[in-house]
Amino acid sequence: MAKKSIADINVSGKTVLMRVDFNVPIKDGRITNDRRIVQALPSIKRVLGQGGKLVLMTHMGRPAEKGFEAEFSAKPVAERLSQLLNKPVKLGPPGVVGAELDSMVAALKAGEVLLMENVRFNPGETMPDKAKKNPDKKLTPEQQKTHDDFVAAIAKLGDVYVNDAFGTCHRKHASIYGVAKAVQAKGGPAVAGYLVEKEIRYLHEAVSAPKRPFVAILGGAKVSDKIKLISKLLEKVDRILIGGAMAYTLLAAKGVKIGKSRVEADQVEEMKKLLAGAGDKIVLPVDHIATDNFESGKPVVVSDVNIADNLLGMDIGPASVKLFSGVIAAAKTVVWNGPMGVFERPDYATGTRSVAEAVAAATLKGAVSVIGGGDSAAAVEEMGLDEKMTHISTGGGASLEYLEGKTMPPIETLDEK
Ligand code: 3PG
Ligand code: MG
Repeated sequence: MAKKSIADINVSGKTVLMRVDFNVPIKDGRITNDRRIVQALPSIKRVLGQGGKLVLMTHMGRPAEKGFEAEFSAKPVAERLSQLLNKPVKLGPPGVVGAELDSMVAALKAGEVLLMENVRFNPGETMPDKAKKNPDKKLTPEQQKTHDDFVAAIAKLGDVYVNDAFGTCHRKHASIYGVAKAVQAKGGPAVAGYLVEKEIRYLHEAVSAPKRPFVAILGGAKVSDKIKLISKLLEKVDRILIGGAMAYTLLAAKGVKIGKSRVEADQVEEMKKLLAGAGDKIVLPVDHIATDNFESGKPVVVSDVNIADNLLGMDIGPASVKLFSGVIAAAKTVVWNGPMGVFERPDYATGTRSVAEAVAAATLKGAVSVIGGGDSAAAVEEMGLDEKMTHISTGGGASLEYLEGKTMPPIETLDEK
């Protein structure tokens, strides 16, 4: 079921509503990583080059959803996009939708671009999430109206809908789902942008017809976030290498002493079952870099799988690096999500760095490597290895949900080819 893409339509003279995920990291008002903006440029340039009038929508962070907050304004993103395109990018009004936006959009000329303010300033954007919290799992009539009004206020502005916001495709929010359906309802196309197309192609290829050995590498803090993913991957992969804090819960389930390491005590029984059914597919660290104090302790090499009572694990150790790197070297397909340790601190970055280097080396020898977004993508970029991977996803939660095999309504709803 291939989805129609922006390459299949002509938008000359049309007003195009394009959802992007410009939810980029910002520190002290400055964008620290603009990859999500850069990755959306091909779709944006396509529309402008064809003489379309482009209206971009994005969310930024998690504001209170009660109106404009300067801290969450899309302004820095509009400025960055303007630099990248080398042309002005108009910024929509603080009220997000309404008469002021209507006249700004009406005034757009062919090849001009406007970025709406953070769609999450309007409570209608994420309203579909509230249904889960209501007793009957449905929106109240007032909630539904807030949502529908917001969808309508956007949808009336455009002739064409483009979804190029892969990082948001695990949400059923107004601008990523409702507006697409509303544009379709009035007879307009709703298509995938180049980025969404590319993300799906790589993620799908990696998990549907992987060249073997197929190795998954998982890390990060919580195993509870990734149980579904592990179960799903166990059906498909030859090996799953697990590092990061989540490894300690699995080690605890195996009866290994983990000292003061971070552990999800309520997950240990569940992990025993998971390990029992996994055969030899799950590979855990065999040694560690630990410390006696998370904030102020010095790094200590623990050359054993067991960790002393006064220490907590911070990174995988040298023997684990060797073990993991060996498995990765033989891989033909690699999917990686989550760092191996507290990589943002140099003392505990070796595990993550070594794994990144091993994946880059395997890729050079012909393996397909797909890096899930979020921390592992950031780590790979910081190490300057991003060009050496086959694909780095712009989606964190979205790439996880895709790999878990969940359906993504915002993608499902797009026009078929
Ligand atoms: C992300 O960065 O995870 C996406 O932009 C989605 O944001 P959200 O988790 O706040 O919905
Ligand atoms: Mg998220």
